[in-house]
Amino acid sequence: MCMLNLLIVEAALETIPKSLWNHPAVKKHAAIKKKDPSEILLDRSYHHSAMLKLKNSIKRGRPDLIHFSLLEACSTPLYLSNLLKVYVHTINDMVIRIGEMVRLPKSYFRFEGLMEQLFKQGKIVSNNNILLEMRNMNFSELITQIKPSLIIGLSRIGEESTCQKVAKELSSRENSVVVVGGFPKGHFSKDISSHFDHLYSIHKLSLEAHTVIARIIYEYEKQIGISH
Ligand SMILES: C[S@@+](CC[C@H](N)C(=O)[O-])C[C@H]1O[C@@H](n2cnc3c(N)ncnc32)[C@H](O)[C@@H]1O
Repeated sequence: MCMLNLLIVEAALETIPKSLWNHPAVKKHAAIKKKDPSEILLDRSYHHSAMLKLKNSIKRGRPDLIHFSLLEACSTPLYLSNLLKVYVHTINDMVIRIGEMVRLPKSYFRFEGLMEQLFKQGKIVSNNNILLEMRNMNFSELITQIKPSLIIGLSRIGEESTCQKVAKELSSRENSVVVVGGFPKGHFSKDISSHFDHLYSIHKLSLEAHTVIARIIYEYEKQIGISH
């Protein structure tokens, strides 16, 4: 059976960068959470004023987007059939590998706690199974590790196509990769898009990453005959 790899890239998921640790908004939030700023996820809902001078700020501080996207991907028949591997590549070149049959918390607060633990410990283990593992790795190194036969990026500004056509192309290869941006605004950086064999748009509107993930996985399932 074909294996699909979903890469959620340049994801807006990171702990608060050192340059912001002394900002009043960050100190206040850290005091409420009774945690050190270095152990807290950067989140625009709390740290907007602190983030104003941060480099590449429009792409950062939205861990909720990754929560939605992972819940979506990891509840599909494709993932539950072990035919989908899921990776999150973060804006700071960390890669999170999601293990098999992982049930992520539906509550955002529990997800946030899990991610903070992952940034601290590097892995989350349960009953001797690695559920989540985080490594220092850039996109190019991840691609070298996966060795895909085809890499398709998805973006509103890509070549006009449909989910059905993209899924057909992905399923025509053994070990293909589909790349979705894990950021709220902006586009893939050159370091990422230079690896794509194709960049396709599946709708004229700019959609949320989780909507794109749901649609492409469903079409892929139909192509390989595990959904109708
Ligand atoms: C919130 S969007 C990022 C914003 C970006 N301006 C865009 O529209 O692509 C998050 C991700 O969803 C995917 N996406 C959003 N709209 C899309 C579309 N119309 N076609 C294909 N992919 C799309 C892309 O992978 C994008 O990086």
